[in-house]
Amino acid sequence: MSNTITLDYSIESSAIRAEIAQLQPQLVHWRRRLHQYPELGFQEILTADFIAEKLSDWGIDYQTQVAKTGIVATIHSNHEGKVLAIRADMDALPIQEENQVAYCSKHKGIMHGCGHDGHTAIALGIAHYLAHNRDKWQGTVKIIFQPAEEGPGGAKPMIEAGVLTNPRVDAIIGLHLWNNLPVGTIGVREGALMAAVECFKCTLFGKGGHGAMPHQTVDSVVLGAQIINGLQSIVSRNISPIDSAVVTVGQFHAGTALNVIADTAKMSGTVRYFNPKLEKLIGERIEAIIKGICESHGAKYELDYWQLYPPVINNSRITQLVKSVALEVVETPLGVVPECQTMGGEDMSFFLQEIPGCYFFLGSANEGKGLNYPHHHPRFDFDETVLSLGVEIFARCIEKFADFTI
Ligand code: NI
Repeated sequence: MSNTITLDYSIESSAIRAEIAQLQPQLVHWRRRLHQYPELGFQEILTADFIAEKLSDWGIDYQTQVAKTGIVATIHSNHEGKVLAIRADMDALPIQEENQVAYCSKHKGIMHGCGHDGHTAIALGIAHYLAHNRDKWQGTVKIIFQPAEEGPGGAKPMIEAGVLTNPRVDAIIGLHLWNNLPVGTIGVREGALMAAVECFKCTLFGKGGHGAMPHQTVDSVVLGAQIINGLQSIVSRNISPIDSAVVTVGQFHAGTALNVIADTAKMSGTVRYFNPKLEKLIGERIEAIIKGICESHGAKYELDYWQLYPPVINNSRITQLVKSVALEVVETPLGVVPECQTMGGEDMSFFLQEIPGCYFFLGSANEGKGLNYPHHHPRFDFDETVLSLGVEIFARCIEKFADFTI
Protein backbone atom coordinates (compact mmCIF):
# COMPACT_ATOMS: atom_id res chain seq x y z
CA MET A 1 0.00 0.00 0.00
CA SER A 2 1.28 3.46 -0.76
CA ASN A 3 1.53 6.19 1.80
CA THR A 4 -0.30 8.70 -0.36
CA ILE A 5 -3.86 7.93 0.58
CA THR A 6 -6.44 10.60 -0.06
CA LEU A 7 -9.94 10.94 1.27
CA ASP A 8 -12.45 9.89 -1.31
CA TYR A 9 -15.51 11.34 0.36
CA SER A 10 -17.07 13.85 -1.98
CA ILE A 11 -18.13 16.37 0.61
CA GLU A 12 -17.74 20.08 0.75
CA SER A 13 -14.21 21.13 1.40
CA SER A 14 -13.36 23.24 4.40
CA ALA A 15 -10.37 24.78 6.09
CA ILE A 16 -10.33 22.06 8.77
CA ARG A 17 -10.52 19.33 6.15
CA ALA A 18 -7.76 20.83 4.03
CA GLU A 19 -5.50 21.23 7.05
CA ILE A 20 -6.10 17.69 8.29
CA ALA A 21 -5.83 16.10 4.84
CA GLN A 22 -2.19 17.20 4.84
CA LEU A 23 -1.65 15.11 7.98
CA GLN A 24 -2.85 11.89 6.34
CA PRO A 25 0.60 10.58 5.28
CA GLN A 26 1.90 11.15 8.82
CA LEU A 27 -1.18 9.53 10.36
CA VAL A 28 -0.54 6.44 8.23
CA HIS A 29 3.14 6.50 9.17
CA TRP A 30 2.38 6.74 12.93
CA ARG A 31 -0.27 4.06 12.74
CA ARG A 32 2.03 1.64 10.92
CA ARG A 33 4.85 2.31 13.33
CA LEU A 34 2.53 1.62 16.29
CA HIS A 35 1.23 -1.46 14.50
CA GLN A 36 4.76 -2.87 14.22
CA TYR A 37 5.44 -2.61 17.95
CA PRO A 38 2.22 -3.68 19.69
CA GLU A 39 2.19 -4.05 23.49
CA LEU A 40 -0.25 -5.67 25.88
CA GLY A 41 -2.21 -3.83 28.59
CA PHE A 42 -0.11 -1.92 31.17
CA GLN A 43 3.01 -2.79 29.16
CA GLU A 44 2.63 0.02 26.59
CA ILE A 45 6.13 1.38 27.20
CA LEU A 46 7.38 1.82 23.61
CA THR A 47 3.95 3.13 22.69
CA ALA A 48 3.97 5.70 25.52
CA ASP A 49 7.54 6.74 24.61
CA PHE A 50 6.50 7.25 20.99
CA ILE A 51 3.53 9.40 22.03
CA ALA A 52 5.62 11.41 24.52
CA GLU A 53 8.27 12.11 21.89
CA LYS A 54 5.68 13.53 19.49
CA LEU A 55 3.98 15.62 22.19
CA SER A 56 7.38 17.06 23.22
CA ASP A 57 8.20 17.91 19.59
CA TRP A 58 4.93 19.82 19.30
CA GLY A 59 5.35 21.73 22.58
CA ILE A 60 2.41 20.04 24.31
CA ASP A 61 2.30 19.61 28.11
CA TYR A 62 1.76 16.04 29.21
CA GLN A 63 1.95 13.70 32.14
CA THR A 64 3.35 10.18 31.80
CA GLN A 65 2.92 7.03 33.92
CA VAL A 66 -0.69 7.84 34.73
CA ALA A 67 -2.10 4.47 35.85
CA LYS A 68 1.24 2.82 34.98
CA THR A 69 1.61 3.44 31.23
CA GLY A 70 -1.08 6.04 30.47
CA ILE A 71 -0.38 9.55 29.16
CA VAL A 72 -2.50 12.67 29.50
CA ALA A 73 -1.81 15.63 27.21
CA THR A 74 -3.33 19.01 28.04
CA ILE A 75 -3.58 21.48 25.17
CA HIS A 76 -4.70 25.05 25.75
CA SER A 77 -6.03 27.20 22.94
CA ASN A 78 -5.42 30.93 22.83
CA HIS A 79 -9.00 31.49 24.04
CA GLU A 80 -10.72 30.75 27.34
CA GLY A 81 -13.35 28.04 27.34
CA LYS A 82 -14.58 24.67 28.48
CA VAL A 83 -12.52 21.52 28.85
CA LEU A 84 -13.19 18.60 26.52
CA ALA A 85 -11.43 15.25 26.83
CA ILE A 86 -10.66 12.87 23.99
CA ARG A 87 -9.93 9.30 24.93
CA ALA A 88 -7.83 6.83 22.93
CA ASP A 89 -6.87 3.34 24.04
CA MET A 90 -3.43 2.09 23.02
CA ASP A 91 -3.09 -1.60 23.97
CA ALA A 92 -2.84 -4.64 21.69
CA LEU A 93 -3.94 -8.28 21.93
CA PRO A 94 -2.22 -11.66 22.46
CA ILE A 95 -2.76 -12.73 18.83
CA GLN A 96 -0.17 -13.85 16.25
CA GLU A 97 -0.69 -11.60 13.24
CA GLU A 98 -1.35 -13.37 9.94
CA ASN A 99 -1.39 -10.30 7.67
CA GLN A 100 1.32 -10.22 5.00
CA VAL A 101 2.00 -6.49 5.05
CA ALA A 102 5.17 -4.44 5.28
CA TYR A 103 4.04 -3.00 8.63
CA CYS A 104 3.28 -6.42 10.19
CA SER A 105 3.77 -6.83 13.97
CA LYS A 106 7.39 -7.36 15.00
CA HIS A 107 6.32 -8.62 18.43
CA LYS A 108 5.71 -12.36 18.31
CA GLY A 109 2.26 -13.35 19.50
CA ILE A 110 1.11 -9.75 19.98
CA MET A 111 -0.95 -7.78 17.51
CA HIS A 112 -2.99 -4.62 17.18
CA GLY A 113 -6.01 -6.71 16.28
CA CYS A 114 -8.66 -4.25 17.40
CA GLY A 115 -7.53 -0.97 15.82
CA HIS A 116 -6.17 0.73 18.93
CA ASP A 117 -3.08 1.64 16.87
CA GLY A 118 -5.48 3.67 14.74
CA HIS A 119 -7.09 5.25 17.81
CA THR A 120 -3.65 6.32 19.06
CA ALA A 121 -2.66 7.70 15.63
CA ILE A 122 -5.93 9.68 15.42
CA ALA A 123 -5.36 11.07 18.94
CA LEU A 124 -1.83 12.11 17.92
CA GLY A 125 -3.34 13.71 14.82
CA ILE A 126 -5.78 15.82 16.81
CA ALA A 127 -2.98 16.76 19.24
CA HIS A 128 -0.90 17.94 16.28
CA TYR A 129 -3.80 19.89 14.77
CA LEU A 130 -4.70 21.59 18.07
CA ALA A 131 -1.13 22.49 18.99
CA HIS A 132 -0.48 24.04 15.56
CA ASN A 133 -3.78 25.95 15.40
CA ARG A 134 -4.21 27.34 18.93
CA ASP A 135 -5.92 30.43 17.56
CA LYS A 136 -8.61 28.48 15.69
CA TRP A 137 -10.40 26.86 18.62
CA GLN A 138 -11.50 27.67 22.17
CA GLY A 139 -10.93 26.22 25.61
CA THR A 140 -8.76 23.30 26.62
CA VAL A 141 -8.54 19.74 25.33
CA LYS A 142 -7.20 16.85 27.34
CA ILE A 143 -6.13 13.84 25.38
CA ILE A 144 -6.24 10.67 27.40
CA PHE A 145 -4.02 7.88 26.05
CA GLN A 146 -5.37 4.96 28.02
CA PRO A 147 -3.70 1.59 28.68
CA ALA A 148 -5.22 -1.87 28.96
CA GLU A 149 -8.69 -1.49 27.46
CA GLU A 150 -8.69 -5.18 26.51
CA GLY A 151 -8.35 -5.99 30.21
CA PRO A 152 -7.97 -5.60 33.06
CA GLY A 153 -8.98 -2.01 32.23
CA GLY A 154 -7.05 1.25 32.36
CA ALA A 155 -9.94 3.72 32.47
CA LYS A 156 -10.83 3.24 36.13
CA PRO A 157 -7.26 3.62 37.46
CA MET A 158 -6.81 6.70 35.26
CA ILE A 159 -9.95 8.27 36.76
CA GLU A 160 -8.67 7.37 40.23
CA ALA A 161 -5.38 9.06 39.31
CA GLY A 162 -7.34 12.27 38.67
CA VAL A 163 -7.37 12.60 34.87
CA LEU A 164 -10.81 14.21 34.93
CA THR A 165 -9.68 16.97 37.30
CA ASN A 166 -7.17 19.84 37.28
CA PRO A 167 -8.51 21.24 35.05
CA ARG A 168 -11.92 19.65 35.54
CA VAL A 169 -13.18 17.99 32.35
CA ASP A 170 -16.67 19.07 31.23
CA ALA A 171 -17.30 16.29 28.71
CA ILE A 172 -15.55 13.41 26.98
CA ILE A 173 -15.68 11.87 23.51
CA GLY A 174 -14.02 8.82 22.06
CA LEU A 175 -14.24 6.57 19.04
CA HIS A 176 -13.69 2.97 18.08
CA LEU A 177 -12.74 2.08 14.53
CA TRP A 178 -15.36 -0.43 13.51
CA ASN A 179 -15.04 -3.09 10.84
CA ASN A 180 -18.70 -4.00 11.24
CA LEU A 181 -19.40 -0.77 9.35
CA PRO A 182 -18.00 0.31 5.98
CA VAL A 183 -15.50 3.17 5.87
CA GLY A 184 -17.36 6.45 5.51
CA THR A 185 -20.00 5.46 8.06
CA ILE A 186 -20.42 6.61 11.64
CA GLY A 187 -22.34 4.59 14.22
CA VAL A 188 -23.64 6.77 17.01
CA ARG A 189 -26.66 6.60 19.29
CA GLU A 190 -27.97 8.13 22.49
CA GLY A 191 -28.13 5.86 25.54
CA ALA A 192 -26.64 2.38 25.57
CA LEU A 193 -24.07 1.74 22.85
CA MET A 194 -22.17 -1.21 24.32
CA ALA A 195 -23.01 -3.79 26.96
CA ALA A 196 -21.97 -4.35 30.55
CA VAL A 197 -19.45 -7.16 30.88
CA GLU A 198 -19.71 -9.52 33.86
CA CYS A 199 -17.77 -12.74 34.33
CA PHE A 200 -18.06 -15.87 36.42
CA LYS A 201 -16.04 -18.93 37.34
CA CYS A 202 -17.61 -21.87 39.13
CA THR A 203 -16.28 -25.13 40.53
CA LEU A 204 -18.74 -27.95 41.26
CA PHE A 205 -17.75 -30.46 43.93
CA GLY A 206 -19.51 -33.83 43.51
CA LYS A 207 -18.23 -37.29 44.42
CA GLY A 208 -16.24 -39.36 41.93
CA GLY A 209 -16.42 -43.06 41.31
CA HIS A 210 -16.79 -45.92 38.86
CA GLY A 211 -18.52 -45.16 35.58
CA ALA A 212 -20.59 -48.32 35.96
CA MET A 213 -21.71 -47.54 39.55
CA PRO A 214 -23.25 -44.05 39.40
CA HIS A 215 -25.44 -44.69 42.48
CA GLN A 216 -22.25 -44.44 44.61
CA THR A 217 -21.34 -41.03 43.22
CA VAL A 218 -22.45 -37.42 42.79
CA ASP A 219 -21.76 -36.87 39.09
CA SER A 220 -20.35 -33.39 38.51
CA VAL A 221 -20.84 -33.72 34.74
CA VAL A 222 -24.58 -34.32 35.13
CA LEU A 223 -24.71 -31.41 37.61
CA GLY A 224 -22.90 -29.15 35.19
CA ALA A 225 -25.17 -30.13 32.30
CA GLN A 226 -28.26 -29.29 34.36
CA ILE A 227 -26.77 -25.99 35.44
CA ILE A 228 -25.83 -24.96 31.89
CA ASN A 229 -29.38 -25.76 30.75
CA GLY A 230 -30.81 -23.95 33.77
CA LEU A 231 -28.83 -20.81 33.00
CA GLN A 232 -30.57 -20.57 29.62
CA SER A 233 -33.82 -19.72 31.40
CA ILE A 234 -32.40 -16.46 32.83
CA VAL A 235 -32.57 -14.47 29.60
CA SER A 236 -35.73 -16.20 28.40
CA ARG A 237 -37.68 -16.08 31.68
CA ASN A 238 -36.19 -13.51 34.09
CA ILE A 239 -35.37 -10.63 31.73
CA SER A 240 -38.02 -8.51 30.07
CA PRO A 241 -38.19 -9.34 26.36
CA ILE A 242 -37.79 -5.60 25.74
CA ASP A 243 -34.31 -5.73 27.30
CA SER A 244 -31.38 -7.58 25.75
CA ALA A 245 -29.00 -9.85 27.65
CA VAL A 246 -26.62 -12.75 27.03
CA VAL A 247 -25.48 -15.54 29.36
CA THR A 248 -22.67 -17.55 27.77
CA VAL A 249 -20.84 -20.51 29.31
CA GLY A 250 -17.58 -20.46 27.40
CA GLN A 251 -15.68 -23.16 29.26
CA PHE A 252 -16.64 -26.48 30.83
CA HIS A 253 -13.99 -28.91 31.97
CA ALA A 254 -14.46 -32.19 33.85
CA GLY A 255 -13.28 -35.74 34.02
CA THR A 256 -10.17 -37.78 33.30
CA ALA A 257 -11.40 -41.01 31.66
CA LEU A 258 -14.45 -42.35 29.85
CA ASN A 259 -15.27 -44.84 32.58
CA VAL A 260 -14.71 -42.57 35.59
CA ILE A 261 -17.38 -40.31 37.06
CA ALA A 262 -15.79 -36.91 37.61
CA ASP A 263 -15.81 -35.59 41.17
CA THR A 264 -15.33 -31.95 40.15
CA ALA A 265 -16.23 -29.81 37.17
CA LYS A 266 -15.22 -26.25 36.33
CA MET A 267 -17.12 -23.80 34.20
CA SER A 268 -16.72 -20.16 33.34
CA GLY A 269 -18.67 -17.67 31.31
CA THR A 270 -19.68 -14.12 30.55
CA VAL A 271 -22.81 -12.06 30.96
CA ARG A 272 -23.81 -9.02 28.86
CA TYR A 273 -26.66 -6.52 29.12
CA PHE A 274 -27.44 -2.88 28.34
CA ASN A 275 -29.89 -1.88 31.08
CA PRO A 276 -27.96 -0.85 34.24
CA LYS A 277 -30.98 -2.01 36.31
CA LEU A 278 -29.97 -5.60 35.48
CA GLU A 279 -26.67 -5.16 37.31
CA LYS A 280 -27.52 -7.38 40.29
CA LEU A 281 -30.26 -9.54 38.81
CA ILE A 282 -28.35 -11.85 36.45
CA GLY A 283 -25.56 -12.67 38.91
CA GLU A 284 -28.14 -13.45 41.61
CA ARG A 285 -30.10 -15.71 39.27
CA ILE A 286 -26.92 -17.56 38.22
CA GLU A 287 -26.05 -18.27 41.85
CA ALA A 288 -29.62 -19.31 42.71
CA ILE A 289 -29.65 -21.86 39.87
CA ILE A 290 -26.22 -23.28 40.75
CA LYS A 291 -27.11 -23.44 44.45
CA GLY A 292 -30.51 -25.08 43.86
CA ILE A 293 -29.18 -27.76 41.51
CA CYS A 294 -26.16 -28.50 43.73
CA GLU A 295 -28.37 -28.83 46.83
CA SER A 296 -30.74 -31.17 45.05
CA HIS A 297 -27.81 -33.50 44.31
CA GLY A 298 -25.96 -33.13 47.61
CA ALA A 299 -23.07 -31.32 45.90
CA LYS A 300 -21.16 -28.17 46.82
CA TYR A 301 -19.93 -25.28 44.72
CA GLU A 302 -17.67 -22.25 44.70
CA LEU A 303 -18.68 -19.27 42.59
CA ASP A 304 -16.70 -16.14 41.70
CA TYR A 305 -18.78 -13.46 40.00
CA TRP A 306 -17.55 -10.01 39.12
CA GLN A 307 -18.32 -7.04 36.92
CA LEU A 308 -15.54 -6.10 34.50
CA TYR A 309 -17.12 -3.04 32.82
CA PRO A 310 -20.51 -1.32 33.19
CA PRO A 311 -22.52 -0.59 30.02
CA VAL A 312 -21.39 2.27 27.73
CA ILE A 313 -24.19 4.83 28.11
CA ASN A 314 -23.99 7.92 25.91
CA ASN A 315 -25.20 11.28 27.18
CA SER A 316 -27.99 12.70 24.97
CA ARG A 317 -26.58 16.21 24.54
CA ILE A 318 -23.02 15.21 23.73
CA THR A 319 -24.36 12.54 21.37
CA GLN A 320 -26.38 15.23 19.58
CA LEU A 321 -23.16 17.21 19.18
CA VAL A 322 -21.28 14.22 17.73
CA LYS A 323 -24.23 13.31 15.53
CA SER A 324 -24.44 16.84 14.10
CA VAL A 325 -20.74 16.69 13.23
CA ALA A 326 -21.15 13.20 11.78
CA LEU A 327 -23.94 14.44 9.51
CA GLU A 328 -21.62 17.18 8.24
CA VAL A 329 -18.68 14.95 7.45
CA VAL A 330 -20.20 11.79 5.98
CA GLU A 331 -22.69 11.67 3.20
CA THR A 332 -25.59 9.34 2.57
CA PRO A 333 -26.26 6.62 1.53
CA LEU A 334 -23.64 5.34 3.98
CA GLY A 335 -23.86 8.15 6.48
CA VAL A 336 -24.82 8.00 10.11
CA VAL A 337 -26.08 4.71 11.50
CA PRO A 338 -28.07 4.87 14.73
CA GLU A 339 -28.64 1.10 15.05
CA CYS A 340 -25.09 0.22 15.96
CA GLN A 341 -25.43 -1.33 19.41
CA THR A 342 -23.18 -4.25 20.23
CA MET A 343 -22.95 -6.67 23.13
CA GLY A 344 -19.20 -6.05 23.15
CA GLY A 345 -17.92 -4.14 26.18
CA GLU A 346 -15.60 -1.18 26.68
CA ASP A 347 -14.16 0.55 29.72
CA MET A 348 -14.94 3.94 28.17
CA SER A 349 -18.06 3.28 30.27
CA PHE A 350 -16.23 4.35 33.46
CA PHE A 351 -15.53 7.80 32.01
CA LEU A 352 -19.17 8.08 30.92
CA GLN A 353 -20.31 7.27 34.46
CA GLU A 354 -18.33 10.27 35.72
CA ILE A 355 -19.04 12.98 33.14
CA PRO A 356 -21.30 13.50 30.11
CA GLY A 357 -19.86 12.07 26.95
CA CYS A 358 -20.26 10.10 23.78
CA TYR A 359 -18.52 7.06 22.39
CA PHE A 360 -19.07 6.27 18.73
CA PHE A 361 -18.06 3.83 16.01
CA LEU A 362 -16.16 5.01 12.97
CA GLY A 363 -16.69 2.54 10.11
CA SER A 364 -13.32 1.24 8.91
CA ALA A 365 -14.01 -1.81 6.71
CA ASN A 366 -13.31 -1.84 2.99
CA GLU A 367 -14.44 -5.08 1.42
CA GLY A 368 -12.97 -4.18 -1.98
CA LYS A 369 -9.50 -3.97 -0.44
CA GLY A 370 -9.98 -7.10 1.70
CA LEU A 371 -10.00 -4.97 4.83
CA ASN A 372 -13.08 -6.44 6.42
CA TYR A 373 -11.89 -9.10 8.84
CA PRO A 374 -13.58 -8.81 12.24
CA HIS A 375 -11.91 -7.28 15.27
CA HIS A 376 -9.63 -9.66 17.21
CA HIS A 377 -9.04 -11.77 14.06
CA PRO A 378 -5.38 -12.56 13.17
CA ARG A 379 -5.98 -10.85 9.80
CA PHE A 380 -7.77 -7.78 11.15
CA ASP A 381 -6.78 -4.58 9.38
CA PHE A 382 -8.68 -1.43 8.44
CA ASP A 383 -8.90 1.19 5.70
CA GLU A 384 -6.40 3.86 6.74
CA THR A 385 -8.30 6.63 4.92
CA VAL A 386 -10.39 6.63 8.08
CA LEU A 387 -7.52 8.17 10.10
CA SER A 388 -7.89 11.75 8.89
CA LEU A 389 -11.66 11.42 9.02
CA GLY A 390 -11.36 10.58 12.72
CA VAL A 391 -9.15 13.61 13.33
CA GLU A 392 -11.59 15.81 11.42
CA ILE A 393 -14.55 14.61 13.47
CA PHE A 394 -12.72 15.39 16.71
CA ALA A 395 -11.61 18.80 15.39
CA ARG A 396 -15.17 19.72 14.43
CA CYS A 397 -16.55 18.46 17.76
CA ILE A 398 -14.03 20.66 19.59
CA GLU A 399 -15.01 23.66 17.45
CA LYS A 400 -18.74 23.13 18.11
CA PHE A 401 -18.29 22.35 21.80
CA ALA A 402 -17.20 25.96 22.45
CA ASP A 403 -20.76 27.29 21.98
CA PHE A 404 -22.54 24.19 23.16
CA THR A 405 -24.60 23.98 26.35
CA ILE A 406 -24.43 20.55 27.93
NI1 NI B 1 -11.08 -2.39 20.93
